[in-house]
Amino acid sequence: MSLISARHVCVRQGGVEVLHDITLTLAAGEIVTILGPNGSGKSTLLRALLGIVPVASGRVERKAGLRIGYVPQRLHIDRALPMTARRFLSLPRRVGEAEAAAALSRVGMEAAGGLQLAALSGGQLQRVLLARALLGAPDMLMLDEPTQGLDQAGEAGFYRLIEEVRAQSGAAVLMVSHDLHVVMAASDRVICLNGHICCEGTPRVVSGAPEYRALFGLGTQGALALYQHVHDHEHAGPNAHLHAQEHHHDHDHDHDQDSGHGAKEPSDA
Ligand SMILES: Nc1ncnc2c1ncn2[C@@H]1O[C@H](COP(=O)(O)OP(=O)(O)O)[C@@H](O)[C@H]1O
Ligand SMILES: [Mg+2]
Repeated sequence: MSLISARHVCVRQGGVEVLHDITLTLAAGEIVTILGPNGSGKSTLLRALLGIVPVASGRVERKAGLRIGYVPQRLHIDRALPMTARRFLSLPRRVGEAEAAAALSRVGMEAAGGLQLAALSGGQLQRVLLARALLGAPDMLMLDEPTQGLDQAGEAGFYRLIEEVRAQSGAAVLMVSHDLHVVMAASDRVICLNGHICCEGTPRVVSGAPEYRALFGLGTQGALALYQHVHDHEHAGPNAHLHAQEHHHDHDHDHDQDSGHGAKEPSDA
């Protein structure tokens, strides 16, 4: 039984159709990543699945009683405002000590409860956001560009954490990214979006699809070489993914410009 499904969904924003004929389902325990350039409708798709954005036509169905932990792309946290990680977990709903401690521990941040949000690194903040999304034992996590602003090592670490969380909690994960390399090694299934679903499937299948290569401007061997590199070097240490990244860069288009490759975004992280 699927957790959530969309059937022939179209969504309009400001009089423009930004999502066209989207059909997808998410099964329990799956890690699915939506990939696509800026403005391709990724955030809108998550919001339509959540029911925050109305659909113009088609249907979204959520399993009865489905609990979703959602981390939006932009959380307006004023990091100048004094606020500990622990207190942040209790907004807007008060959370008991045991539950808060369990959530922080699950993301490897057990010692961070008393720390100010402003004092956390980008990667630590993402983990606290994930901890907050895990409160209430969700069946499913929806994470909109959770690794934005992280460097390569931080990104790889975050994906490993997602895998652990899935293994422990059984929660399905629907994630948005416009990074290719780590995603390709860390997802069960990838959906390429550009207003419509261009292609979808396992990372290996998608990385060989012409639609995918066209969308990301990859050359004939680019995507496959990329995936294989990530795979081959999986256990080669923290810099393993940098190698794949170098290959990828040759073909990079500026739709990746704000994905934070290599550089942290001071305003966002
Ligand atoms: N509230 C809105 N009003 C008008 N246009 C919107 C709104 N939200 C998104 N859009 C437009 O819809 C398209 C898809 O946006 P979005 O889902 O944020 O893309 P992505 O997350 O892939 O970058 C963009 O062209 C964006 O400008
Ligand atoms: Mg977005």
